Amino acid sequence: MNFPKIASLKTADAFQSRLNEIGAPMPFDETVEAGAGSTLWQPIDSGAGVIGNRWTILPMEGWDGEADGTPTDLTRRRWRNFGLSGAGLIWGGEAVAVRHDGRANPNQLMLNDATASSIESLREELVGEHVKAFGSDDGLVVGLQLTHSGRYARPNDKKRLEPRIAYRHPVLDPRAGVTDDGAILSDDDLDRLVDDFIAAAVLAQKIGYAFIDVKHCHGYLGHELLSGFDRPGKYGGDFEGRTRFLRNVVAGVRAAAPGLAIGVRLSVFDYSPYKPGPDGDGVPEVAGAYPYAFGGDGQGGIDLTEPSKFLSLLKELGIRLVCTTCGSPYYNPHIQRPAAFPPSDGYQPPEDPLAGVARQIDATAKLKSEHPDLVIVGSGYTYLQDCLPNVGQAAVRSGMVDSIGLGRMVLSYPDLPADVFAGKSLVRKRVCRTFSECTTAPRNGIVSGCYPLDPFYKERPEREQVLAITKGK
Ligand SMILES: Cc1cc2nc3c(=O)[nH]c(=O)nc-3n(C[C@H](O)[C@H](O)[C@H](O)COP(=O)(O)O)c2cc1C
Ligand code: SF4
Repeated sequence: MNFPKIASLKTADAFQSRLNEIGAPMPFDETVEAGAGSTLWQPIDSGAGVIGNRWTILPMEGWDGEADGTPTDLTRRRWRNFGLSGAGLIWGGEAVAVRHDGRANPNQLMLNDATASSIESLREELVGEHVKAFGSDDGLVVGLQLTHSGRYARPNDKKRLEPRIAYRHPVLDPRAGVTDDGAILSDDDLDRLVDDFIAAAVLAQKIGYAFIDVKHCHGYLGHELLSGFDRPGKYGGDFEGRTRFLRNVVAGVRAAAPGLAIGVRLSVFDYSPYKPGPDGDGVPEVAGAYPYAFGGDGQGGIDLTEPSKFLSLLKELGIRLVCTTCGSPYYNPHIQRPAAFPPSDGYQPPEDPLAGVARQIDATAKLKSEHPDLVIVGSGYTYLQDCLPNVGQAAVRSGMVDSIGLGRMVLSYPDLPADVFAGKSLVRKRVCRTFSECTTAPRNGIVSGCYPLDPFYKERPEREQVLAITKGK
């Protein structure tokens, strides 16, 4: 599909008229404020401590841990970059598995007694870098994202899925090689997994993390359970059953790690899996009725009734920190991380990626209006590129969201928030252009990083390999 590149929309008017053309409104401030007292530098109390500003670093995994689940120098460098960003909230750092069979790749971090001190040192290095750059860690809140990768687990071999699923799925099962019920996690398995989340939360608290994120997004297990409408037994069926996993984890963490704050990163809507159509543009694999989407209307559209009910449940459970995202990077990446260029296993964008950004902003704003007392972090802004601060500031100023999450942008331009604070113009050659190489690399067994723009990754031997894959697409 043809759509104008963001860089070609040179004025606020041109940007707005493109949004009008595609029917994807979003707020936009002509002038971005700088310094203390600016819109994006207002503190906010999160229940996990006071967050000093309205920037959040989203969890960004690098596929670069050791086999035993400890970080490598590449992991440490990424976390130090998170620290020097200036963002007040570090939402989880990256996905950390609570046990081996839940690792999304053999190099995913894993939290257990043996790895805890190394994962503590990651936090310390991040905080150290923040203090070096900004003089103190006041207003810095660092959490840890805990996960089981479920359907997307590859614990032993980068190329071999070993799915542990919530329920059988007509489209995703064949994609994952699931042919019988053996991959389904039983209720007993889930009871044990609840215990593993609790044990990991206790460790996270011990090593100084201010909160844990009980991950419920992107098609991984926590998220998949929310759409287990047909799953029999106590962890499926009605809303109560589908949220039992979360409620059991939270109850256990409250008892075993009193005082530890909890957050939830949630895919607030979902679509059918997509595939390349005849011209390479993505098309839904299930056209029309699609009953497996949490936050879906059953017909391929969005219905936020259940996600809103889920946020009410979080409040009842004493949880205030929420990070909104959507869909999955595996089966509908264009909604989850809108990009001009697809990853190697993707499809050409079926819509102007601006529409994808607007969809996440709109869904988040609707949920924020229904739950004003939650602290809500939004995602999916990187495609806005040079306009990101203008839209982010306008969204926070108008109360549509509390904090602007940075995903891919933090890989190419980690200190963007610090530059905005200082009133500097953005450094154009560091602005992420959504080339997707940070997704293509790990899809091909290579560590993730910003190969096109980060001088450190430009120099790495893997760059040639990634380029070859991208060109051969
Ligand atoms: C290389 C890469 C790694 C990611 N790792 C994680 C992760 O560990 N946990 C998670 O919840 N999301 C992860 N995400 C999703 C991002 O947090 C974010 O939702 C997404 O990139 C959209 O935000 P953006 O437009 O700012 O990039 C990852 C994304 C990328 C590109
Ligand atoms: S590789 Fe770099 S430029 Fe491309 S999407 Fe990732 S962060 Fe952005």
